[in-house]
Formats: sequence, C-alpha cells, structure tokens
Amino acid sequence: MKFFVDTADIDDIRDLASTGLLDGVTTNPSLIMKAGRPIKEVIADICAAVDGPVSAEVAATDFDGMMAEAAVLTPIADNVTIKVPLTWDGLKACRALSQKGIGVNVTLCFSATQALLAAKAGATFISPFIGRIDDMGYDGMDLIGDIRAIYDNYDSISTEILAASVRSNNHVRDAAKLGADVATVPPDVLRKLANHPLTDKGLAAFLADWEKSGQSIM
Ligand code: G3P
Repeated sequence: MKFFVDTADIDDIRDLASTGLLDGVTTNPSLIMKAGRPIKEVIADICAAVDGPVSAEVAATDFDGMMAEAAVLTPIADNVTIKVPLTWDGLKACRALSQKGIGVNVTLCFSATQALLAAKAGATFISPFIGRIDDMGYDGMDLIGDIRAIYDNYDSISTEILAASVRSNNHVRDAAKLGADVATVPPDVLRKLANHPLTDKGLAAFLADWEKSGQSIM
C-alpha cells in the first residue's frame, strides 16, 4: 500500500518525507486555507519536498474554469496531480486532462457508481471519503470493498483506489485488507501507525538488560 499524507503543512511533509516512506501528498482547499499561504507557493514547496504525486485541487466548479485552473497548477512541477470534484464537469475535466497525460485525482467520491465513472474518465486516483461516510452512520469500508470488486472486474481499469478522509489506524488497516492502493492520512494518524505500547515496553526492557550486560556494540 502506498502512503500519502493529507496536509499542506510543509514542515510535517518534510519531516515525514525524511523517513523515505512517504509516497505522495494530497491537499484540498481547506488544507490550503489552513496553510495560510498562496496555493502556488505551497504546491511548489510540497512538490520539491516529495518525489511522488502531489494533488492540487481546483476551486472552479465549471469545466472551463477547472481547465483554466489546471493550466496554472500543472506547470508548477512535474509531480502535480490535478484534483477535481466528482461532478459531471469534474469528470469532463478529468477526461480532458488525462487525455493530455496529466494525472488526475477525482475527489469527494461517496458511491461505487461515481468511482466507475471516474475510472471511465481516466482518473489516476479515485478518492472515496471513508470517514465522512462513517460520520453519516454508514460504513465507509463497504465503499472501498465495492470499488475494489468492481475495478477488479475490468482489466482496462488502471485507476488507483486512494482511501481518503482517513481518521484512524483501523481505517488504514481495513482499507489495506480490502485492497485500496493508497491511503492518504493526516500527519498525526500517519505517525501513530508505527506506535504500539508493547513496542515501547519491550524496548525499555531490552535496553535495561543491555545496560546490565555492560556491553557495547561499537
Ligand atoms: O482526503 C480528504 C480529506 O482531507 C477529508 O478528510 O477528515 O475532512 O473528512 P476529513
């Protein structure tokens, strides 16, 4: 599974990229707003900090506006992926951009049929929002499973399932079990993926015994 971080905070991105385990970044207008800097500057900094795809989302809602904004965002760096909403205009923009060889992330996906259309439009990534479905009292993982099953029926589909609106370790585990290709995870949740209290306890015991042994490896 690939791990993307879902943030526009450049310090968090640089820190996580330094692990060598970060495969990409997703942003959205809310995250850019939180960053408090111009979108072009933020996306340029992020693209320089990571090798993988960096999703930059359009703010226009009509096809022409999306295409015009994509024309501004795409040249920022080779690893920019254009993020468009799952609307008919977004799908049209996805098709036009993907035909030009530009990577597209289709976001705000809440149904399997939406995901099917995004694949047909040539999306590089489809972003089902797990957490927001859970918030409604349904199970976001059902959607990941449905999309995986549908995409696997068609050899012609190469769209990657990018589990988004991820809120917990369990979301990452369950999305991986169901075969999501990517999880985009907020920085705090991403850091928690490596943590376990028994790891800390076990390490403390090993280090205490090592101290008692009086040995040194170096
Ligand atoms: O990747 C989409 C994500 O930013 C939305 O997450 O937690 O606002 O539903 P959330």
